[in-house]
Amino acid sequence: MIWLALETSCDDTSVAVVEDGRRILSNLISSQINLHRKFGGVVPELASRKHLDNINPLMAQALKEGGIGWDDIGAVAVANGPGLVGSLLVGVAAAKTIAAVKGIPLAGVNHLSAHIYANFLGEPQPELPAVCLLVSGGHTSLALMEAHGRFTLLGETRDDAAGECFDKAARILGLPYPGGPEIDALAKQGNAEAVRFPRPYLGNDSFEFSFSGLKTAVMQYCKKNEGFNIHDVCASFQEAVVDVLLKKTFAAARAAGVGRILLAGGVACNSRLKEKFRAEAEKQGTELHIPAPVLCTDNAAMVACCAYYNSRRGLADDLTLDANPLLSWKDLK
Ligand code: KG4
Ligand code: ZN
Repeated sequence: MIWLALETSCDDTSVAVVEDGRRILSNLISSQINLHRKFGGVVPELASRKHLDNINPLMAQALKEGGIGWDDIGAVAVANGPGLVGSLLVGVAAAKTIAAVKGIPLAGVNHLSAHIYANFLGEPQPELPAVCLLVSGGHTSLALMEAHGRFTLLGETRDDAAGECFDKAARILGLPYPGGPEIDALAKQGNAEAVRFPRPYLGNDSFEFSFSGLKTAVMQYCKKNEGFNIHDVCASFQEAVVDVLLKKTFAAARAAGVGRILLAGGVACNSRLKEKFRAEAEKQGTELHIPAPVLCTDNAAMVACCAYYNSRRGLADDLTLDANPLLSWKDLK
């Protein structure tokens, strides 16, 4: 069966055509980065208007690139939360319209679990259970995935998300939005031991995160050290974030007695993070899955994959489906 999937939860409009939950026929992403860059972050009202402009042409293009027509689609999926309500509404309204007009099944999926499902689009398919680290611009969560659709939240950030921390540190350093890729690139020529930034562990056995102090530490360092080396600051900052994510994720896997880790979200594109996770996984004999970069950041293929696995468990929605900006791990069915 062919799924049409829509993702409009934040600042990327994405449409995918995916067969049987796994085979990506097309996965198009229309980025709004240039629109929001001059404001240093996402402006919600502009984002929803841009989704409205984008969604119909992008659907037409996704069908064309997927080599299919409207009549070939068997079901439609959409991320209906969490996210920006105006943005989510565009995807939800489009998905409901298609489901109603074509008379096909509709599936609303949680954007958080959809990120994790990016791992099930790759080869080899992960077995379960697995410990999942979701690190994006809006979320930092450690969860135990016991079975399909069954997640137990182990810990979340109490303040800034990991990606948000990259974006805020980049802003302090005068780098454009989004800051993660900028810092990643500059850090390659820096010394990660040049500045000892704090590692907020919040106690030895806590799986909670706190990143807001780190951006303050970067700000204070830059104020005190005029003419600082930006490469060293980027490398040292990135090392602090990665150290915390790495230690907590492997500790969570140990505590749960699980030898399998799945990464997800935009920060899972970070080259140092991937390098250190791979090295540690090899050392500990842990199976590690990291989606391709295009499947780490927001995309509709992960939404289709998640909807496919949900449908195998009998989940379905009807036309009362609504956008829910506050959906959380607790709302998973
Ligand atoms: O998953 P995503 O596209 O959107 C959300 O659901 O939030 O993640 C975007 C976040 C941004 O904060 C961006 O700075 C970060 O992912 N990011 C990175 C890298 N690429 C994207 N952070 C660190 N290193 C990267 N290479
Ligand atoms: Zn996301």
